Amino acid sequence: MSHLRAVPNGPTGPSTAPPRSGSASSVRVEAPGKVNLFLSAGAPGPDGYHPLTTVFQAVRLIETVTARRQSAQNHGTVTLTLEEPDAAVPIDASNLAVRAADLLAEVTGVNEGVDLLLRKRVPVAGGMAGGSADAAATLVACNALWGTNLPLPELSALASRLGADVPFPLTGATAVGHGRGDLVTPIMTRGSYHWVFALAEQGLSTPAVFRRFDVLPGAGEPAVRDIPEALTAALRAGDVRALADSLHNDLQAAAIDLRPELARVISVAEEAGALRAIVSGSGPTIAALVEDAGGAQRVSRALKASGLVAGVLRADAPVAGARVVG
Ligand code: C5P
Repeated sequence: MSHLRAVPNGPTGPSTAPPRSGSASSVRVEAPGKVNLFLSAGAPGPDGYHPLTTVFQAVRLIETVTARRQSAQNHGTVTLTLEEPDAAVPIDASNLAVRAADLLAEVTGVNEGVDLLLRKRVPVAGGMAGGSADAAATLVACNALWGTNLPLPELSALASRLGADVPFPLTGATAVGHGRGDLVTPIMTRGSYHWVFALAEQGLSTPAVFRRFDVLPGAGEPAVRDIPEALTAALRAGDVRALADSLHNDLQAAAIDLRPELARVISVAEEAGALRAIVSGSGPTIAALVEDAGGAQRVSRALKASGLVAGVLRADAPVAGARVVG
């Protein structure tokens, strides 16, 4: 299954250099999904985006993008194939990975095209930025395959044009996000954290969750909050219990208002021993922070037995950002 589309013929961006090409015939890149440890949103600005203060943590649910040099037959197009076809993931030009390849081609003047192969492990439309990780991985893969070699700050600027959550998976680990969530600054943390993720049958649309946030009492009042010192101190100390106490997501009430059963999923996880369970990003994935592998097992078992969830995943965090692995 693949979709073919044309990319511009020749340079259209600021670069006037002749098209370059790296030496590899394919480049494989991994990029992580994320959970928001803290998210405070203000009232939307004129562009419709909400100012955010957030803390991202990259989790070991890994998207893999393989960018392949094209056969003469396809030359100059961007194609996308899913390793496991999924009706919920478009493979046309609306896919963020295709848009990432198109954008990099446009600004660098590359016209050789690319075949992208995508392996997905982050829940689709789950509030864990899987599509954003695909876009970030594609930028890194094509940047190497095409030999364009843009430095990270330039890739990050392109990433934020693709979506508010795309810069973070380039950086990975743990980072503060300001602006729309796209201005990312890494922060110091110690230790490793264990998460259990409860998946929903149906994804939630991020714009729909923000719209519900806007009409719930107290939205954007007071304006976007600072990250609590207790949270950054917990991360610096590697103190999982203190981190659990500091977890917060302003979008949680909106996601639960749209999907009331998420409140029950949170209760099941916490009654089974999770230190805290919260909505991940705009949901509907529930992220349960647990003390150790034993806790992860107990919470996973309880969630599966509840009949309330479509699946359960376990992952440790933090992990590195987008990187070439082959
Ligand atoms: O940037 P991205 O395309 O990922 O955002 C998807 C949608 O989520 C936006 O169109 C907007 O409705 C909402 N959003 C927002 N404020 C943010 C990030 C996203 O309102 N900071």
